[in-house]
Amino acid sequence: MLPYKTLIKIDRELSISLYIQLCNAFITLITKGLLSPYDKLPSSRKLSELLIINRNTIKLAFEELVSQGWAESRPRKGIFVMATLPLTNVNEKDISNTQNLDKNVSFKWKNNYIETVLLSNLQKASLAINDGFPDVRLAPVDILMREYRSISGKNFGKGFLNYGNPMGSEKLRIAFSNYLSDTRGIHANLENILITRGSQMGIYLATQLILNPLENVVVGYTNYFAADATFKLMGSNLIRIPIDDKGMDIDYLEEVLKTKKIKLVYVIPHHHSPTTVTLSMERRLKLLNLAKQYQFAIIEDDYDFDFHYSSKPFLPLSSIDFNKNVIYTGSLCKIFAPALRIGFLVGPEKFIQKAASLRRLIDRQGDSLLEESVAELFNSGEMKRHFRKSLKLYHKRRDVFCDVLKTNFSNHINFEIPQGGLAIWAGFDETINLPKIAELAFKKGLYINDGSYYKNEKFNANFIRMGFASLNEDEIYRSLDILKKIL
Ligand SMILES: Cc1ncc(COP(=O)(O)O)c(C=O)c1O
Repeated sequence: MLPYKTLIKIDRELSISLYIQLCNAFITLITKGLLSPYDKLPSSRKLSELLIINRNTIKLAFEELVSQGWAESRPRKGIFVMATLPLTNVNEKDISNTQNLDKNVSFKWKNNYIETVLLSNLQKASLAINDGFPDVRLAPVDILMREYRSISGKNFGKGFLNYGNPMGSEKLRIAFSNYLSDTRGIHANLENILITRGSQMGIYLATQLILNPLENVVVGYTNYFAADATFKLMGSNLIRIPIDDKGMDIDYLEEVLKTKKIKLVYVIPHHHSPTTVTLSMERRLKLLNLAKQYQFAIIEDDYDFDFHYSSKPFLPLSSIDFNKNVIYTGSLCKIFAPALRIGFLVGPEKFIQKAASLRRLIDRQGDSLLEESVAELFNSGEMKRHFRKSLKLYHKRRDVFCDVLKTNFSNHINFEIPQGGLAIWAGFDETINLPKIAELAFKKGLYINDGSYYKNEKFNANFIRMGFASLNEDEIYRSLDILKKIL
């Protein structure tokens, strides 16, 4: 018999119930190969004595193992590791996804995730109707550089050239703590905030910590493609939920929860990507209640909270997350510039510590001097001035863009005016071949998306996001003129 007393560590301080901890411990033993198919698990009586855990808890853990497909119960014989493990399929999948991707190289590497586009025509075109990016020409780079020079010139500033805390600059974490509290009612202490290199790093770190292979993660029918790719990389199972004009269909999710164990729900409540809809308050409350009842985690991706034009926005789920189910991520990449790789991950202290340890393995720390300089922009009010200025401008650009679409494209494009964000979710007439249009537009110097980003096994409609924020008015007219001629 395995030395279960040493191998299984149970932490009674954790909020995770004992039977789930125990079940997870057995899954780990199986995935590490310490328990193999057909192996018999110890009896609940024996394990209860060894671990000093109530026998009913052990039975519950075994039931969970059986219901998840890791073990089977044989009448009068006991519980056995499943003969055909889900894990075996993962291994096979992994192996078949490990390929010689380059004939001239003699080793193989993994290919088991959705490939993300590394470089597209976007970077080459002189005009771009992009996915909803900011106008980088507005970013107060000079002021940022002035701060950078000033700090680096001082004696104490040299210290920021050293190895530092993987959690990020303390000054910036304080600035973020104030900013999150002032703008969206999130009360996070220093210990709850990890500075990341953007929302994507937040999604990646949280996913790595929460999900295991084969576990279920809920996402929208169509969803931010890089989040989908992150979950697939983990080998987890994506369960897609419809998105309508009130956001993710939480009643549908509730039905799914009755039959499937869900570990994680990924939502973008402020403006779902790509469809731009806002999750209704009723659904937000229901989602939080379900998270409490079924004990799943929520990653709240709030990549564009600062952009709302008409009314005051709903506050993030994280601001009303009294049961601590939500991990919140966002960044300055849409506010300032995508290349300013600074964002935040907010969550319970112990979770954030783990995320920082994990981050250290792929990126020792952020750019400390840059983080200090950005903190100065917050403290001096420069960042707020920049937000205000860009918001006003983007509001105007949205109106101009939507007016032109309404006036000149009503036969071809169907859309709702977005209440916030930097893009329109545009439905093109079914007869329009978007890849062809994108190709022809590029020849005329205009980038538009060809729609492939948003497609998946559940979503195949003729839609693209049309970003309006990075174009000034003249550029909006010129871009849409090219598009109109092509259509
Ligand atoms: C929905 C969504 N989440 C996350 C990101 C990643 O943002 P960041 O640049 O902050 O990593 C993006 C980028 O466009 C996005 O659209």
